[in-house]
Amino acid sequence: MNTAAASPSTRPSLGVALITGASSGIGAVYADRLARRGYDLVLVARDGARLSALAGRLQREAGVQAEVLQADLTDRADLARVEQRLQADARITLLVNNAGMAVSGTLATADIDAVERMIALNVLAPTRLAAAAAKAFAARKAGTLVNIASVLALVPEMFSGTYSGTKAYVLNLTRSLQQELGPQGVRVQAVMPGATRTEIWDRSGTPLHHLPQAMLMDVDALVDAALAGLDQGEAVTIPSLEAVHEWNALEDARRALGPFLSLQQPATRYTRAPAAAA
Ligand SMILES: NC(=O)c1ccc[n+]([C@@H]2O[C@H](COP(=O)([O-])OP(=O)(O)OC[C@H]3O[C@@H](n4cnc5c(N)ncnc54)[C@H](OP(=O)(O)O)[C@@H]3O)[C@@H](O)[C@H]2O)c1
Repeated sequence: MNTAAASPSTRPSLGVALITGASSGIGAVYADRLARRGYDLVLVARDGARLSALAGRLQREAGVQAEVLQADLTDRADLARVEQRLQADARITLLVNNAGMAVSGTLATADIDAVERMIALNVLAPTRLAAAAAKAFAARKAGTLVNIASVLALVPEMFSGTYSGTKAYVLNLTRSLQQELGPQGVRVQAVMPGATRTEIWDRSGTPLHHLPQAMLMDVDALVDAALAGLDQGEAVTIPSLEAVHEWNALEDARRALGPFLSLQQPATRYTRAPAAAA
């Protein structure tokens, strides 16, 4: 991670950002960047020692308050503690729903218990945390929710279907929350990283060096682009996509299907009599 120094902040706090999965990778860089913007932090993950080291560094370097909230988000009691914090702490203005894991392999060959843990971490946890934040932010008519999805939401053929499915869920949830919470003054952004140089790859059993370098983004560049997308008011940020019109065209095509997806009658191709055999 690039830890280029910034002088301790004298800016007023922007409130508190609660970041899940802050002990490494994307979450740790969000913590760094948000601290330098003037947010106080609540850092969530399992590895308390790593979180404490990061919190200490950011307190020294950025002059913010940084608290460690050690939690295994696949554990219902730990998850409930984080939800309660989101509901009870009115200083929290930003939730980065980032903690996640991947499991390599086909459905038939993957460790199915690991797949279940992944669904708990990538789907259930961000859902419950988003719900807690949605209630709190909507009541205050302010707040920002950032959900870390993945470009694999769009291309399930490129990795495991289960991981891709969890990220498609995050994208769909985000799209729906934007409609639900936007009118109540709450910003919601989906971030869709492509392959990014973090520990997730080695942890999932797909070594980073197996990936073509041209596909791999450095984590600092990824988070800086995601925050630039947030600043620009983007609903969905795809950091590596230059041709943003391609994404907009896909969205337009998806929305154009809307009026035709639920009708009283089946399409005529399903009701025509089969052609007689020659
Ligand atoms: N890197 C990529 O190529 C890529 C691409 C697209 C999307 N993403 C998404 O980006 C997000 C961050 O991943 P990353 O790439 O930064 O990977 P990472 O470096 O492995 O970070 C994952 C974070 O999640 C935390 N975590 C894992 N299991 C947890 C659990 N049971 N409870 C609480 N926290 C847990 C980890 O901390 P502890 O181990 O300390 O708990 C760590 O802080 C994930 O949602 C991932 O799906 C990554």
